[in-house]
Amino acid sequence: MWAMTIRPILIHPDPRLKKVCKPVENITGELHALSRDMLETMYDAPGIGLAAPQVGILKRLIVLDAQRDKNAPRSPVVMFNPEVIAKSEDLNTYEEGCLSIPEQYAEVTRPAEVRVRWIDADGEEREKDFDGLWATCVQHEIDHLNGVLFIDYLKPLKRQLITRKMVKLKRELAREKG
Ligand code: NI
Repeated sequence: MWAMTIRPILIHPDPRLKKVCKPVENITGELHALSRDMLETMYDAPGIGLAAPQVGILKRLIVLDAQRDKNAPRSPVVMFNPEVIAKSEDLNTYEEGCLSIPEQYAEVTRPAEVRVRWIDADGEEREKDFDGLWATCVQHEIDHLNGVLFIDYLKPLKRQLITRKMVKLKRELAREKG
């Protein structure tokens, strides 16, 4: 059994959440450990997806599990260098949230289905079509690798309002820490 660590999640606004992340060239032991930590951190939060920049690592790595049925077995997915290679014209609107923007939710419209290509934890190239919540989740997480947050799809005023709340939250958290 591997030891896993719950990593601290960066809260918006943070310059590291606005960076374009670097592709992964070799899946090292360190990156395997990071992906396991990210899954543990995501399940603990709890959330349905997490991107490496959210734990301060500017590499193209995401984890997700959009299986919402609590009684179903976990369906963790680890993706290195994920890319959307095709998207449907049909759109879908979900109320999105983000572990880096706690307790703020807003409707975002995205392609309803996407085909994603990625490298899995064994270094194999994979390709799969996603729909429903999985499609929204994988697009939201890939956005993180390009420095894009779900609030970037909102009207400026709404985005500024959420950002101000987060600045206040971070100030309170810093004060609690002393
Ligand atoms: Ni997010």
